Amino acid sequence: MSEKKRRILVTSALPYANGPIHIGHLVEYIQTDIWVRYQKMQGHECYYVCADDAHGTPIMLHAEKLGVTPQQLVDRVQEEHLRDFTGFGIVFDNYYSTHSEENRSVVNTIYQRLLENGHITRRTIQQLYDPVKQMFLPDRFIRGECPNCHAPDQYGDHCEQCNRTHSPMELINPVSAVSGEKPVIRESEHLFFRLPDFEAMLRDWVHGGHLQQEVINKLDEWFKAGLQEWDISRDTPYFGFEIPGLPDKYFYVWLDAPIGYLASFRNLCDRTGLDFDAFTRPGADQDTEMYHFVGKDIMYFHALFWPATLYGSNFRTPTAIFVHGFLTVNGQKMSKSRGTFIQAATYLEHLDPEYLRYYYAAKLGNGVDDIDLNFEDFTLRVNADLVGKVVNIASRCAGFINKRFAGRLHAGLHNEALFGQLAACGSSIASAYAGREYSRAMREIMALADRINQYIDEQKPWVLAREEHRAEELQAVCTLGLNGFRLIVTYLKPVLPVLARKTEAFLAIPPLEWRDAGTPLLDHKIGTFSPLMTRVEREKMEAMLTASAEPAPGAAPRQSHLSTNPLAEQITIEDFVRIDLRVARILRAEHVDGAEKLLRLELDLGGETRKVFAGIKSAYDPEALRGRLTVMVANLAPRKMKFGISEGMVLAASGSGSGIYLLSPDSGAEPGMRIK
Ligand code: 2FM
Ligand code: ZN
Repeated sequence: MSEKKRRILVTSALPYANGPIHIGHLVEYIQTDIWVRYQKMQGHECYYVCADDAHGTPIMLHAEKLGVTPQQLVDRVQEEHLRDFTGFGIVFDNYYSTHSEENRSVVNTIYQRLLENGHITRRTIQQLYDPVKQMFLPDRFIRGECPNCHAPDQYGDHCEQCNRTHSPMELINPVSAVSGEKPVIRESEHLFFRLPDFEAMLRDWVHGGHLQQEVINKLDEWFKAGLQEWDISRDTPYFGFEIPGLPDKYFYVWLDAPIGYLASFRNLCDRTGLDFDAFTRPGADQDTEMYHFVGKDIMYFHALFWPATLYGSNFRTPTAIFVHGFLTVNGQKMSKSRGTFIQAATYLEHLDPEYLRYYYAAKLGNGVDDIDLNFEDFTLRVNADLVGKVVNIASRCAGFINKRFAGRLHAGLHNEALFGQLAACGSSIASAYAGREYSRAMREIMALADRINQYIDEQKPWVLAREEHRAEELQAVCTLGLNGFRLIVTYLKPVLPVLARKTEAFLAIPPLEWRDAGTPLLDHKIGTFSPLMTRVEREKMEAMLTASAEPAPGAAPRQSHLSTNPLAEQITIEDFVRIDLRVARILRAEHVDGAEKLLRLELDLGGETRKVFAGIKSAYDPEALRGRLTVMVANLAPRKMKFGISEGMVLAASGSGSGIYLLSPDSGAEPGMRIK
């Protein structure tokens, strides 16, 4: 590719370290991950950083309720978030926390510079204070009667009945949601960021090609209404960073959150030797780019406060903010009672993450419109497009190549013009990815899949296969089919990295790159074909919705696995490293005469074969296990069992009566690799 290698820093909004990732969050992370993977595939230097948003009153109170410190809560949630993201194939170059020394340091630098440049003022304000809990109350922790429509039990800043905003002081009969007490009015001195100082700069920036038109229109409304100074301090008790020189005062979470983008990047730079300043100093926009993907609810913070904060403290401003809409499910807001408030972890227990990645891609444009996840449509589309069109191409051609030609592709292209047409579509698909028009990219890719399927229909390889003298033609047709498949998977790779990895293994080729798309794969030995993706099963989808539904009132709460199966005694890292866990491939699996629960497995440990008995008969058909990777304890002393000697142990998860789940590494792992 002739385009100059770009240097790009990308972020997604930082999720609060206060609750699980759900499918609504995933719209943004999947959108960003696709964009980043696309840029990397183009050979650009692209860094995707994120972090948990650790600070604020809700997190402090939540930790207190759980009886842990905020740090403990934040650590635990961060781990869960990262696990969920990884499960969905979302790969960050760095995932950090805003409660970090790097963030404290950048926050202090920015504050100091804003202070020196005269952009911070102090003013005493009145706020509602909880006399029992001895804390000032954020608006969402105050409830009372709406001053406009008199609806009871409304939030301190907004009425859900009449949809009007109000000040917490106007609320009738307010009560603290923390203690249930009547709050009192108290004064406190706060720090304000003088946003109006930046009006001229912001007007230029907003109209300077960094934002989508819908966002510009919204910002113009805000300019018209007049920019307000922004309260950036909070009183103790608070979980956050103390303001230097002001005891008992903390920076407001929304000041340090976006700075967390820079701090996460700083941490990456420190670990890898990257030049932080090259991406962040003023003027860096000449040769590096910085993009923030965010939802439309946090536009104000990112398109006004953030560029002004950066500019006022001598940092570069963003190249662009990419704003997206919300997710609705079956046309409605996500809802616990309807079972549509689906957590990432619940989804992963039932369905393939690549289905959702594809579905979101097929729905996402570059605007701020909401997207709808309709489960009927989801099933039909994934099954029709990915299984029926894309994977079908490979399964229609691979068998012939494997069985009749010992896996070798033909040396020439049967229809050069067709291959040329498919390769030529790459640039339009590339521009769709670059411009975040993923739905267009998916449409164009599926049109190519239709075109190849049509070619196969016309050439009828199954007819050619019956005529001995047409063997070469058969090989050439299937070779073209597989080359079409390879092109399609290349184009889909930013969206479907697992399908791409499996395809690379099946075709026995190095990682697919955009620039190789136009070069056909000829006279090459491919591997054996195994199904690359299976259909969405309605029962699994229903099981996911059931698992997501709130239990009916009065129903017994779901028992946690930890309560029925408490954690074992703590061990040290030294204890752990004595256990040698290895990736193993199941070469053979068979029933054991007379054994109710056991299967006999033959495992390849990467050069060495082991025979192991595993109590997994109730969950697995031996045939289905053959070829699969799993994890084994390789240095377990051989054990004599009733049916023979077991030379190790495979690892599986199980709970009380909830099935058995054999562990397996991500595809790409090889037998013999050590797990640590
Ligand atoms: O709205 C939210 O979920 C915030 N935690 C997003 C923060 S994005 C950035 F500014 F840190
Ligand atoms: Zn109201």
